Amino acid sequence: MKGVRIGIAGLGTVGTGVWNILHRNTDLIQARLGFPVEITAVALRRPRPDLDLSKVKVHSDVMQLACDENIDIFVELIGGYKDAAAAIRAAIAAGKHVVTANKALLAEQGESLLKEADEKGCLIAFEAAVAGGIPVIKALREGLCANSVSSVAGIINGTANYILSAMSESQQSFEVALLDAQKLGYAEADPTFDIQSIDAAHKITILAALAFGIPLNFNAVKTQGITHITPLDLVNAEHLGYRIKQLALARRDANGKVDIRVHPAMIPKTAMLASVHGAMNAVMIIGDAVGPTLFYGAGAGSEPTGSAVIADIMEIARHTHHESSNAAVHPLAFSVERIPAQYLTADDRQQSAYLRFTVADSTGVLAFIAQQLSQQGVGIERLVQTPIEMEENSNGPQFMSIVVITHPAPEKALHAALTALELSSAVKAPIQVIPIEARVC
Ligand code: HSE
Repeated sequence: MKGVRIGIAGLGTVGTGVWNILHRNTDLIQARLGFPVEITAVALRRPRPDLDLSKVKVHSDVMQLACDENIDIFVELIGGYKDAAAAIRAAIAAGKHVVTANKALLAEQGESLLKEADEKGCLIAFEAAVAGGIPVIKALREGLCANSVSSVAGIINGTANYILSAMSESQQSFEVALLDAQKLGYAEADPTFDIQSIDAAHKITILAALAFGIPLNFNAVKTQGITHITPLDLVNAEHLGYRIKQLALARRDANGKVDIRVHPAMIPKTAMLASVHGAMNAVMIIGDAVGPTLFYGAGAGSEPTGSAVIADIMEIARHTHHESSNAAVHPLAFSVERIPAQYLTADDRQQSAYLRFTVADSTGVLAFIAQQLSQQGVGIERLVQTPIEMEENSNGPQFMSIVVITHPAPEKALHAALTALELSSAVKAPIQVIPIEARVC
């Protein structure tokens, strides 16, 4: 029986997951499709003596795989920008459909790649690019396609969530938690992408484009990393009824303005997203018809991500396997004509925040903080003052920790107050600022 022939570029963490699942579940996949999925070729940078590659053509050059006439679908799992883009372009030029997990490439160069694919009548599928094994792309594209989506909120970087969870639950240091995440295969080749929130920004770029029908625009995402979060902030959050998460948000307000960002945020402990621990991911999508929906699962790792890659392979195979089908000309995820977005600015954005000050324990400091905030129209909802314990026998000056939870205020006003406060000699360390997202369910 004629099957669909795939070529896999890259047998790293995800590629190996795809290989293993396709070999383990061969019969099941064939039964579901009505025809087999065959790996006919791979491209490898390093030998894989642990795999039986005797039945596949092994290329050392990914460009040769992209043009291999014995493949129907090119599966790009090498990651990165230059080589991956060149190979995808070559595959499209050769008339092949593409499956990719490459969120960075899609978020930053996806517009041109999708256009080229569309012109050639080829499909690009990318379920594995966002939230690993969770079928959230398919949910937006299919299950929720009747809805006007107002919000997508997600924990979509397993490494960052693993680190923040381990720091909070087991008092692990940032460094140890990151090393563990790397050992478990969650982290990017360059973990800066995980801890500086760039990886999650790539993913929310893709989700926002799908949710709101806007172009992929990575540059519109406001991004802040998680490296400044300290164990003290995690403890404070717990006492105040919050958890700190690297939160990716894409919202559209009543005027149609779009706000896309990723940063550490305090969310209420009672929110469902607050219960997403370890490397797990979750995405909450709110649609006008359906209301809130929550998608939860493994967001990284070999087989969870491999599962999403194979779902795409099977979907393309279903669309294109029978020659009578003309579905291939319809893009799977995006309509070609998308509406340009209008983005929210710091002038429009209202935000409550957790502020932590390290100050001298002297008269008037508290009043000064309250005054600077109130001068900018930033109201105080809660305030906790605690002496900072000094080392025994220390004769140095006494410091206090002041934690303020603000009422929602324009982001610009808060910045103005904080800039003035940073300049004060009473403030002894950089002010810790963590936005509060009380609206997250
Ligand atoms: N580095 C990513 C994460 C891998 O930690 O979520 C999955 O995209």
